[in-house]
Amino acid sequence: MTQIGWYGLGSMGLAMASNLQRHLVTKKSLNLLYTNRTMSRGTPLQALGAIAEPSFEKLVSRCGIIFTMVANDSVLQGLISSAVQSGESLKDKIFVDCSTVHPDMVSSAVAQLTGPGASFVSAPVFGGNPIAVDGKLVFAIGGPKSATDAVKPLIQDVMGRKVIECGEDATKSSLLKIAGNIVTVNMMEAVGEAQVFAEKTGLGTGPMEELIGEAFGPVAGGYSKRLTTGAYAPPLDSRPGFGVSLAIKDANHAISMAQAEGAKLPGLELARANMEAARNYGGECLDSSSMYGVLRQKAGLAFWNEKSRKQ
Ligand SMILES: NC(=O)c1ccc[n+]([C@@H]2O[C@H](COP(=O)([O-])OP(=O)(O)OC[C@H]3O[C@@H](n4cnc5c(N)ncnc54)[C@H](OP(=O)(O)O)[C@@H]3O)[C@@H](O)[C@H]2O)c1
Repeated sequence: MTQIGWYGLGSMGLAMASNLQRHLVTKKSLNLLYTNRTMSRGTPLQALGAIAEPSFEKLVSRCGIIFTMVANDSVLQGLISSAVQSGESLKDKIFVDCSTVHPDMVSSAVAQLTGPGASFVSAPVFGGNPIAVDGKLVFAIGGPKSATDAVKPLIQDVMGRKVIECGEDATKSSLLKIAGNIVTVNMMEAVGEAQVFAEKTGLGTGPMEELIGEAFGPVAGGYSKRLTTGAYAPPLDSRPGFGVSLAIKDANHAISMAQAEGAKLPGLELARANMEAARNYGGECLDSSSMYGVLRQKAGLAFWNEKSRKQ
């Protein structure tokens, strides 16, 4: 029986790891071993039977499959380095990263892990925290076939509703994720603009939200709810659903890749500028949809709405 490990218990990781642990219990498999920078985030996971292992190096040495779900490329690089430099054998271990990182980070992880005999699978996800809680994420998966075959049963109908196969080149799934977020971030900008328009013209955000959900689907409707419920600017002691800095990171990856290939992403550049302005104004504790606050300001309204925090 393969021991499974997990690093990363943020907005997405905790929900995903919880579904994985529930699955392992049903299958009477070994309980999930988990670690995180902030170990206290694991309390709900421990309540499901998962086991805390504060040291990532020890977790790696005890596990055959290690999932990571972390903020960005440099955090992932730090984990890969600590695994490689631990002195423990990595032979036949499978590392599965679900974070959104640049394809160059993926190539580098593959190169660093292949030498010591391990495999790297890139398995980024589409869908926010509520979808992660429901186990209905869409995964893109890329990596050696033997490794992806071993990992897919832990994903399909456990953490995800759909696995998009991207072949044996792990960079391809990361590329698909970056491309998908061009749509995500532009859609947040569009929904934000429409809701400011609805408020300023007297149409009202309620009918606008109903239309967005009905005509443009639940994803767009969910983005609208982040605005009307105030989740774009949550209380300072909470964690945003999809932190603004994470979305800026994703936009930066897409824009730099587009520049390298001679493609243009003007809509994404505008949305990124609005997210950066939002972060300058409201700080880190903002959702990726917080360009809405800046769009409000540009229309003569306050950054904050009646449901958001007020400073
Ligand atoms: N949220 C979404 O809607 C969404 C959707 C799809 C993909 N993604 C991507 O999925 C990944 C995770 O997103 P998330 O929303 O779960 O992020 P999050 O809530 O900010 O959690 C980030 C995770 O990374 C850890 N971390 C951050 N900085 C670290 C550092 N310097 N050293 C060690 N650990 C560190 C955090 O540890 P602590 O708990 O100690 O802070 C936490 O476990 C990101 O790459 C994001 O772009 C997010």
